[in-house]
Amino acid sequence: MEAILLVGGRGTRLRPLTISTPKPLLPTAGVAFLAHQLARAHAAGVERIVFATSYRAEMFEAAFGAHAHGVDLAYVDERQPLGTGGAIRNAARALTCGPDDPVLILNGDILSGHDVPAQVKLHEQAGAAVTLHLTEVEDPSRFGCVPTDDGGRVTAFLEKTSHPVTNQINAGCYVFRRSAIDTIAEDEVVSVERETFPALIASGAVVMGHVEPAYWLDVGTPEAFVRGSCDLVLGRLASSAMPGDPGERLTLAGASVSPGAVVRGGTTVGRGAVVEAGATVLGSVLLDDAFVAEGATVRGSVLSRGARVGPGAVLDEVILGDGAVVGPGNELCGGLRVWPGIELPPTAVRFSTDA
Ligand code: GTP
Repeated sequence: MEAILLVGGRGTRLRPLTISTPKPLLPTAGVAFLAHQLARAHAAGVERIVFATSYRAEMFEAAFGAHAHGVDLAYVDERQPLGTGGAIRNAARALTCGPDDPVLILNGDILSGHDVPAQVKLHEQAGAAVTLHLTEVEDPSRFGCVPTDDGGRVTAFLEKTSHPVTNQINAGCYVFRRSAIDTIAEDEVVSVERETFPALIASGAVVMGHVEPAYWLDVGTPEAFVRGSCDLVLGRLASSAMPGDPGERLTLAGASVSPGAVVRGGTTVGRGAVVEAGATVLGSVLLDDAFVAEGATVRGSVLSRGARVGPGAVLDEVILGDGAVVGPGNELCGGLRVWPGIELPPTAVRFSTDA
């Protein structure tokens, strides 16, 4: 089976992490996020993937080349970002399958443990134009929701509302009949969620919902990105791409963690990163050459390449850009983002909520 992987978004919600690296290439549990998706796609029977690229397009081929994780790879760039639907139509130029064959479409920012072969089987049995993976969430009001009838057929594609009619939401993984992709306008900006799916339903095409409450996470926000990385390290979602066994922490080659430090909760410690004695790092992502000094506390945070946390500083759900420095004694929390290269002098900020 062939697949299209949508990886052209700018990832604005993850800035400053996405200034230098597109979201799908951010190191996640020790490897580029996409490595986990490629490995899972291969396990599901995908043999060839076309990357639909736009933002920092050249970085994808440089990272993965012509073959990775058991899958052959091709790259189709958009001169202008075409949105999710326009990108699918544009990338379909590089598909080699026949008009009735199923094509898997994956958002490049979703971690999912659902049963892709079961989704494809439903698609083929129903003779559907498109079959969407739908997941169930506790609070669907933050998402558009997707009701289905008793036979599993999608009846509507509804925008966000404070009174959702179902807790089923679009999980960002679709099976398209190859010929259904050709109904999307060529060389135009199109959203599959807002235009293609509602139009297919209105035209009477068979659109099916594969509802499966497996592990599922959209890593588009800093909090979710950290959670996704930690869940992979902890083994909550198995990934053959992870460079190590599941456990409380993943320590990459060349990292140095003092025996007197506490590092757990699914934390990754990148190559050349250092955690000194007396430091505590919980549920966080430390990229290459990050540094946590003695007595510092880091929770639910990302330290980008070369970022440094001084002695006794406290970081709670904070993003440090490349090379950012937090001087000794600072206390930062609540989603604060420190831009690359910025240096906070000692005890400049005290945003901590405790004490
Ligand atoms: P935000 O800016 O933070 O919303 O992130 P994003 O740009 O990634 O947008 P979003 O999360 O809605 O995108 C869902 C998926 O579609 C991601 O994998 C994106 O890389 C991809 N995507 C979004 N827009 C485009 C586009 O115009 N072209 C291509 N090729 N992919 C896109």
